[in-house]
Amino acid sequence: MSKLQNAIVGGVRQVLGVVPAEWLPGGRPDPLIGRRVTLGTQQARVDGADKVRGGARFAAEVPMDGLLYAALVHSTIARGRIADLDTAAAETAPGVVLVMTHRNAPRMAAPPAMGITNPKAAGNNILPAMQDAEIRWNGQAVAVVLAETQEQADHAASLVRVRYEAGRARTRFDEGKQDARTPESILIEKNRLVKGDAKAALAAAAHRVDAVYRTPWMNHNPIEPHAATVVWQGDRLVVHDATQMLNATAASLAKVFGIKEEQVHVSSPFVGGGFGSKALWDHQILAVAAAKLAGRPVRIVLPRSGMQRTIGGRTQTEQRVALAADADGKLKALLHHGYSVKPSHSVCDEQYGLTGRSLYACESFDIVQHHVDLDVLANTFLRGPGEAVGTFAIESAMDELAHALGMDPVELRLRNLPDKDPVSGAPHSQHDAARAWRMGAERFGWDRRTSGTPRQEGEWRIGMGCASGTFPYVRLPGMSARITLTGDGRVAVASAAHEMGMGTATVQRQHAADRFGLPLDRVTVTIGDTSLPAGTYAGGSSQTASLGAAIMAASGKLAAELLRLAGNDTPLAGLKSGEVEFADGGLRAAADPARHESFESILRRAGRSEVSVTGQSGPPLEMLKFSMHSTSANFCEVRVSDVTGEVRVTRLLGAFDCGRILNARTAASQFRGGMIMGLGMALTEETLFDERSGRIMSTSLADYHVPAHLDIPEIEVMWTDIPDPRAPLGARGIGEIGATGVAAAIANAVFNATGVRVRDLPITLDKLLR
Ligand code: MOS
Repeated sequence: MSKLQNAIVGGVRQVLGVVPAEWLPGGRPDPLIGRRVTLGTQQARVDGADKVRGGARFAAEVPMDGLLYAALVHSTIARGRIADLDTAAAETAPGVVLVMTHRNAPRMAAPPAMGITNPKAAGNNILPAMQDAEIRWNGQAVAVVLAETQEQADHAASLVRVRYEAGRARTRFDEGKQDARTPESILIEKNRLVKGDAKAALAAAAHRVDAVYRTPWMNHNPIEPHAATVVWQGDRLVVHDATQMLNATAASLAKVFGIKEEQVHVSSPFVGGGFGSKALWDHQILAVAAAKLAGRPVRIVLPRSGMQRTIGGRTQTEQRVALAADADGKLKALLHHGYSVKPSHSVCDEQYGLTGRSLYACESFDIVQHHVDLDVLANTFLRGPGEAVGTFAIESAMDELAHALGMDPVELRLRNLPDKDPVSGAPHSQHDAARAWRMGAERFGWDRRTSGTPRQEGEWRIGMGCASGTFPYVRLPGMSARITLTGDGRVAVASAAHEMGMGTATVQRQHAADRFGLPLDRVTVTIGDTSLPAGTYAGGSSQTASLGAAIMAASGKLAAELLRLAGNDTPLAGLKSGEVEFADGGLRAAADPARHESFESILRRAGRSEVSVTGQSGPPLEMLKFSMHSTSANFCEVRVSDVTGEVRVTRLLGAFDCGRILNARTAASQFRGGMIMGLGMALTEETLFDERSGRIMSTSLADYHVPAHLDIPEIEVMWTDIPDPRAPLGARGIGEIGATGVAAAIANAVFNATGVRVRDLPITLDKLLR
């Protein structure tokens, strides 16, 4: 389970104790699952044209009079103190208005730690910003320069002189491992899982593998850099931010600056990619503080180097996986032990230890993860946190096991797919990984794979690999949506939800159209601003289910309100809200479609120009009762050069079992985007981290290579499209699963091609040259 799933299930369990089955959405599945008109079709993005024309306004593009531009100065040591700060040259440089350091920064509280059970917190690095001379990581901001232009600010920042008294810094992973912590819980799931006797099973098994896998630090590189345009209007703070947690950011900034949440307005209608990184970090806090001191609006746009020093990335991991199987390939033991970095000022557990708890049926489990405390920037969530690196380790080990058994790797997976939750025994809400594996294998032409003697064309060795992906279902309580029905029979949906590129408004417009029985062009969806009904995080692949549930809840209220307004002089007279449905631009009796009255007619007779209701995503009880995970089968073909060791991925296919797919176009894009990130993880992405100084060296896109067009083959995606009866709309969420399993599929294909098993990512040329 993910951080979100864990925390929510834990929280709900505490509140409710035993949950009656009839409370669950599964007691009566969402009627829309079987009655869809626009859902499932390929609708174009509602904001597509604006984005292409430059009409969609991002945080760094909001115009403002008297705007000042900010530049940060970053520490060059990992631990110690600022002994001396000379800002004189910067202060007298052209265009400079303010240099802020810990000496003149306003008093600010630490940002509250982002936590899934706390919708008011967005802090990732939970140290207070710029409050004293202490340095806690290499790259920490030690000064902010405000100037009339960005160039003037950047130049003046280069003139700030800092002398440090360096202390002893812990920056080496292997050193930190010596006294790693073993937390009681990971997110809120119990960390150590011992089920059965894995040790004995490993000792006795007919076949076993036991190996250590490593994944490197990785940095966030969304297309849109982290940016904010901020202004104080009296005691009101307005923040145009790039964020995936609007309300949490507003509440957190309120706490930091000692004001009320209602005094903070955060707007973020478009975000150019988030992936877990668009939360609250020091740059927004420092921009707000500097704007307060300067008495003018401030824009901060982090350059790539600034992003890598200010915005955390995915921690490196070291994971041992041991698998035992009988002669038929049935798993007898799954051991998964590992280390990852989590400084005391970070909130992210990188929960790879949860990955193996749902993938396969297995007689015994022995799982635990350890945290290494280093003097580094707080690590954070990065698309598919936990599962992205966890599947690399487990799915590489599965490939090694298949090889040891002399069994086809697809067959090995099929033999071990679970028919219920492997740990808790809870029933699946919907689970057809077998179908995903079979349809994927057939489409990919898996039967053409050879093992033993690889195919070769000239210098190129050709191989195929496969791997499972997995990601939990999450629905967040507290997501709300307002539905306004107007006298002309139109519906407007409003919510402080987020658009990071995935198509939020597009899909929920389809949802609302189908839910209210209206054509698409009668529905609008407005999101991205804290002036709208409160939203939760767009994280954990949860937003579609959460917002979907909020609209569902609002639709029930709307039906009740319309029946009340309709009164008795209507074909609907005497019906209760459970007995009606929305259809043909109005309400009708579910049992007798002839009893119908249009929205226009009801509102006109009631003398109302509009009616407005707000609904909320309630406690996600379905997550308590059912094991809810999306799964995927990834297939890959690679060519590896005998001469250079270069790996080219020539084909990639993902077959997904994620419940119903709501918009084929945006879903395909989500899946492909995730898979491209998996490809980057496999082959090129690696934060070059100087362990001597804790300095990140790869601070540009030239040094940190994310896949570009020439790295990416044609990616085929397909899905089972089986509705999940326990989830709103039958859909489980698709934002992150694409990034899971791909790195293992590529590593396994490289092994198939070359016989070389690479257990430490990325798979660079040097690891393949012999
Ligand atoms: Mo995601 S890593 O929950 O944006």
